[in-house]
Formats: sequence, C-alpha cells, structure tokens
Amino acid sequence: MAAFAIAHTLLDDAMPAPAWTNLGCWQRPDGAPITNYVEAAEQLAWRLGAAAITSTGQCVADLGCGHGASLLFWQQQFAATHVIGMELQATCVAGWLAHAREGISMHQGRFDQLPLPEAVISKLPPAGCDTVVCVDAAYHADSLGAFVAVAKNLLRSQGRLAFTTVLKPAYSSLLSQIQHSLITNLTGIPKASFVTARELERTLTRLGFEAIRIEHLDAEVLQGFADFVARRSAELPTTRKRALAWLKIAGTAALCRHWLRWQRAHYVLVSAQRTH
Ligand SMILES: C[S@@+](CC[C@H](N)C(=O)[O-])C[C@H]1O[C@@H](n2cnc3c(N)ncnc32)[C@H](O)[C@@H]1O
Repeated sequence: MAAFAIAHTLLDDAMPAPAWTNLGCWQRPDGAPITNYVEAAEQLAWRLGAAAITSTGQCVADLGCGHGASLLFWQQQFAATHVIGMELQATCVAGWLAHAREGISMHQGRFDQLPLPEAVISKLPPAGCDTVVCVDAAYHADSLGAFVAVAKNLLRSQGRLAFTTVLKPAYSSLLSQIQHSLITNLTGIPKASFVTARELERTLTRLGFEAIRIEHLDAEVLQGFADFVARRSAELPTTRKRALAWLKIAGTAALCRHWLRWQRAHYVLVSAQRTH
C-alpha cells in the first residue's frame, strides 16, 4: 500500500490539508492554462463532478478518495449533502478524522472487491447513491470489470458514474504490449484494467450502464503533468530531488511523456448512467 503513497509536499509545499494527489487537469474548459498544482487537481475533480453530479443535494460515493480533498470538494462546489469516500490506504482514512464533518464519511476498503464494507453499506440510502466518482484511481483496480461492478452496487437505478483512467490504443504492437507489461509492474496498473475504448464500452454495457461518453484528456492531463514536473524540478533543490519519493513523481511524468510521444496510452474521462 505504501506503493500508492505520494509525497504531496513535493508537488506543492503549501498544499492545504487534506491534500490532493491526482495528476491534475492543466487547462480550463476554455483552454486557458493552469500552472498551480492545487488548481489543476481541483480542475480534474471539477470535470468529473460536472460530468456526473446533475443536481444539488445528491448522495455521492467517491472511490480511491486519497486524503479526502475531493470529499470536501463535492460538498462545497456541487452542494452534495451526503458524501461517502472509500480508500485503500489506512493512513489516509486515519488522517481524515481531523477533517471530518457532518454529511461526509471516509471508509477503508477496496474499490474492486465485493461485498462492499458493512460501514459503507450502512451509509448508503436504501436505493443506492445518486453518483459514483473516481478521480485518477480506477486504473489501479484489479480489473475494470471488478471496478464497474462495485460502482454499480453503490448506485441507484439511473445513477451516474464518472471516472478517469488510461486507455490502451485500439492497435498495439507486440513490442508495445511487452513494454506495457514491464511498465505495469512499476506503475500499479494491472493488465485487466488497461483496456481499449471498445473493451471499456463493452464492459460498461455488459454490467448495466448506458449513455457512455469518453472524453480524451491527453493534452490537459498527461502533457500538463509532465510540463508541471519539469517546472517543479527546476525549482526544487537537488537534496529534495534525491528522495525516492521525487523519483516516483519524476518517473510518472516520464511515463506520461512516453505515452504521449508514442501514443501508447490515452488519459480519458468516462461517464455513464446505470440503466436499471
Ligand atoms: C492518484 S491517487 C488519487 C487520490 C484522490 N482521488 C485525489 O484526487 O487526490 C489514487 C488513489 O487510489 C487509491 N487506490 C488504489 N487502489 C485502490 C483500490 N483497489 N481500492 C481503493 N483505493 C485504491 C490509492 O491509495 C490512492 O489514494
């Protein structure tokens, strides 16, 4: 689980708690660039919220919610009245206690395993929640199908799902498949979560979702994060960049560049509606 820990002070020294730890979306919808990490992280969450949270007063489940910055975000920016976070890392769940507030809860659990934890079930309305969101985490699921099955279990009929993930291009050569399995071990993206757009649509449809929309965010997320890390690297003293934690961030940026340059993966925002 330490594999998922991200040293957020290396991203932004003055990041307010609870911290964000996503790749960020480095452009506003009108194309205006974003240069500040927290603004970019919030912009990514904002894109997801706009795709899935259709009215005020909703019950929102947030999968892989990290330290919980997004839990507050749904309440403050989308007027959600009931927010349920699920996160694998126990340290994030323990740290959340300092920020806990009415209407929001965070629970330790996996977003790719059923049954849902009892604590989560006890917070759900009887018909299920209105919206499931997952900001920059779904690609860590053991498989896309397992992730979608959990989302479906949380949602009410006609409820909406939005998540970001990385997609495999429609065609990949044997060489790029071999490269990907090497990268998989380093990045924690299981093979069964790295699928093509067609496979993604098929999985969502098979598990009872419709109105599937896939929006490509390569420039906004992959390019944006890689450029940000290059700027941050120039700012940070060498002593801080010797840390393993920085190598992990720099490695992620290098992977974003590799994907972009060779078109080996695409970063997408997926939204869909549960049919029944
Ligand atoms: C890149 S971080 C994004 C965190 C948060 N959503 C944000 O926007 O700041 C991915 C998160 O997914 C969590 N995660 C990874 N695999 C998970 C799983 N199987 N179940 C639940 N959470 C998981 C990690 O612990 C990490 O906090």
